[in-house]
Amino acid sequence: MRVSRRALILGAGAAGLAGARPLRRSSAEPATKEYRLAAKSATVNLTGDRYPDTAVWAYEGIVPGPELRVRQGQPVRIAVTNKLDEGTTVHWHGIRLPNAMDGVPGLTQKPIRPGESFVYEFTPPDAGTFWYHPHADTLQQLGRGLAGALIVEEPEPVPGIDCDLLWVIEDWRLDDDGRIVGGFGNRMEAGMSGRIGNTVTINGRVPNTAPVGTGERVRLRLVNATLARIVGLRFDGHNPVVVAYDGQPCEPHSPEGGRVVLGPAMRADLIIDMTGKPGQSYRVIDDFYQDLAYKFVDLAYDPGKSARELRSDPPARLPDNPLPEPDLATAERHEIALQGGMMGGMGMMGGGMMGGMGMMSHDGATWAMNGMSMTGDGQPKMPPLFTIQHGKTCVLALRNDTAWWHPMHLHGHSFRVVSRNGKPTPRREWRDTVLVPPRESADLAFVADHPGDWMFHCHVTDHQEAGMMGVIRIT
Ligand code: C2O
Ligand code: CU
Repeated sequence: MRVSRRALILGAGAAGLAGARPLRRSSAEPATKEYRLAAKSATVNLTGDRYPDTAVWAYEGIVPGPELRVRQGQPVRIAVTNKLDEGTTVHWHGIRLPNAMDGVPGLTQKPIRPGESFVYEFTPPDAGTFWYHPHADTLQQLGRGLAGALIVEEPEPVPGIDCDLLWVIEDWRLDDDGRIVGGFGNRMEAGMSGRIGNTVTINGRVPNTAPVGTGERVRLRLVNATLARIVGLRFDGHNPVVVAYDGQPCEPHSPEGGRVVLGPAMRADLIIDMTGKPGQSYRVIDDFYQDLAYKFVDLAYDPGKSARELRSDPPARLPDNPLPEPDLATAERHEIALQGGMMGGMGMMGGGMMGGMGMMSHDGATWAMNGMSMTGDGQPKMPPLFTIQHGKTCVLALRNDTAWWHPMHLHGHSFRVVSRNGKPTPRREWRDTVLVPPRESADLAFVADHPGDWMFHCHVTDHQEAGMMGVIRIT
C-alpha cells in the first residue's frame, strides 16, 4: 500500500497544518503513550494576511491543540499543566473512561489551579475520532482556542484508504485587528443560537484550498470544535460516504440530503473518492443557516500529481467498537424536556417563563431540563436528573420544547439513536452527541455501564452554561 505523507495545507502558511498521516505504524509503540499539554496564552495567525495575529489561549500554544494519537486499547497518560490565570480541566469528549478522568470541575475533580498540573490516565476502548476541550469557564476557554483532536487508531490500518485527513473546525468572533471580541456569555445571545462568530477556521487557518489527488480514497475526519455554530457541508461534485459518527462506526451511507450536518462537538468520518481531474477545483459549501451559505474550502486537484485509477469498490465498514448492546425490553425510560430560550422571533425570555412555571433556577438561567437549570461549570450542585443502576439499559427520551437546535451530549457513554419523533431511525447509529431540531424528539438508548455522576448537557456552550445541563447518576 502506498503511504501518503502529503500534508493538507490550508491558507497561506504551512506551519502546524499537517492533516495527513502516514498509515503505517512502527511496531515499537510504547505500552503507555505519554503526552504533555500546557494550557497557555499564545499568539497565532488565523487569517493569513487578512488580519494581524490573534491572541489566544491554546494547548501547547497552537491552534488547534496537538493532535493526540493513540491506538485502541493502548493506555495513555496526559499531564496537563495550567498556565492560564484561572482554573481549568480537560474533558476527553466521547471517550468511555472512568468517571474520575472525565474532567468536570466540581463533579469529577477539583479544577486545576493556575501553575498546577493534573495527570489524566485512561485506555480508550473505542477506535475513532474524538476531541478534547476544557470543562471550566468553557465559553471563554473553548472560545479563546483551547481544543484539540484525539484520534484513536484501529488496531490494524483500515484497508483501502489512501489518505487520512483531519479537519478541526473552529469558529471565532474577531474584530478588525484580529482580536477575539470579548463579552462571552451575552444573555441575549445565550437565549438564542449562542455565540456564533464571523471567522471559521480549519486546522487553525481560514482555509483557501485543500489539495487532493485524482483517484485517492480519503478518510476525512471532521470535528466541530465550535462554541455554537452548526455546519452543513456539501461537497460539490463528490459523493461523501459517512462511515462513523462521533467516533463510532455506522453502516456506510450517503448523508441525508447530500449534506453533512454537525452541531458543536459532533464528529463524522467520511470516505470521499477524489474523482476530479488534475487541475480541477471543487467547492465545499456550508449552507446550514438559511441565506448564510459560504464557501468553506476548495478541493483543489494537484495538477503535478499523476492520477490514479478511480475506485469502483464501495467503501468498507469500519470495524465495530466493543459497545454494550442496549436491551430495550428491560430498559428504564427517562423523559427529558428541553426548555427555555427565546421563542423564535421576538418572544419572551425563558428565564421569565420558567420563573412563572415555578422552576428551580439560578441566576443567569435561560434554559432548563425538566424544570431544573444547572449553570456555569456545574456548580452550585444540583440533585441528579435521575439515578440508574449500574448495568441497566437507559432510554433517554428527549423532547425539545424550544425554538432552537440543541446538540445534547452524554459524558462517558455512547448511545444508540433509536428513534426520532416516534419513528425508528434507519441505522440506529451510535453517537455521543445528538442534534435535536426545534420541537422535535429523539430516543437514545445506552447501557449505564460506568458508575459515577455523568454530565448530560447541550453543547452549544452558552446553552450549557445558562442552564441546559444536568447530571445522570449511575450507582
Ligand atoms: Cu464536550 Cu461536557 O463536553
Ligand atoms: Cu442548546
